[in-house]
Amino acid sequence: MLQEERIPESATRQPWHISELERQSTVENDGRGVLGKVVQRASKEGGSSIGGALHFLADGELLMESRTKRLLLREWKDEDIEPLARMNDDPRVVRYLARLADRNAIEVWINAQREHFKKHGYGLWALERLDIAGSIGFCGLVNVPYQAHFTPAVEIAWRLHPDWWGRGYATEAAVAALAFGFQNLKLNQIVANAAGDNVASRRLMERIGMSHDPKGDFDHPFKAVDDPLRRQVLYRLLYQDWRQKLQK
Ligand SMILES: CC(C)(COP(=O)(O)OP(=O)(O)OC[C@H]1O[C@@H](n2cnc3c(N)ncnc32)[C@H](O)[C@@H]1OP(=O)(O)O)[C@@H](O)C(=O)NCCC(=O)NCCS
Repeated sequence: MLQEERIPESATRQPWHISELERQSTVENDGRGVLGKVVQRASKEGGSSIGGALHFLADGELLMESRTKRLLLREWKDEDIEPLARMNDDPRVVRYLARLADRNAIEVWINAQREHFKKHGYGLWALERLDIAGSIGFCGLVNVPYQAHFTPAVEIAWRLHPDWWGRGYATEAAVAALAFGFQNLKLNQIVANAAGDNVASRRLMERIGMSHDPKGDFDHPFKAVDDPLRRQVLYRLLYQDWRQKLQK
């Protein structure tokens, strides 16, 4: 799903923004009606604090930090290099992914995430448990960094150290990321992709309400023709479906 490659030059969010009309009704509803309930339910089910806290730096850059019931979703620190390197070296983690080549590539990757935040106001957050310091992985929203039949698009991505698998942390972070994308960024669609055999990731996509679009499956343009991971399944979640699912 996630690539170590460059961030795209242009990443206007416009094509996925909900229409002005919908935006107005969203704003109207927010806190009073439909979306008020959505916020409540998301908090209950996923432990998500939708919206998080906005921080303005002195130079006016908008950065984002958010908390869920058990997690801090935060921007990257230099101390994250070591835990990310450990994750990157674990064959269980990179079984279905492109491994970053070395320590230098990890630093470049972290800097790319910082740049993405600066440029677009969103990105992949480092994840930290509220009760233990140190990153346990990452999750967030990024512009798909290649051209495909479904791009331009914003994708949700995740990676956790295996010590923390199977405890619902990825679900908790992903629910918060979706809420941020749909509510704060006003996206009208979020996509995800994975190698077909990546059951954990696909299960997570389904768990957070995404649907497989079998006709959308594609060959990853950054992977070699003979790479068994080249074929990717495509999942989507539309804003209106997200809202409806939360209301059920
Ligand atoms: C994908 C990943 C982030 C899931 O993290 P996690 O914290 O274990 O996920 P959760 O505990 O929130 O579980 C989410 C769902 O996936 C299921 N799941 C998790 N691991 C699974 C596995 N190995 N096989 C089958 N289902 C699995 C869970 O049971 C849960 O579904 P359920 O609630 O219906 O039972 C983690 O496995 C990971 O980091 N994998 C390596 C990196 C990777 O492949 N990233 C995605 C690239 S496309």
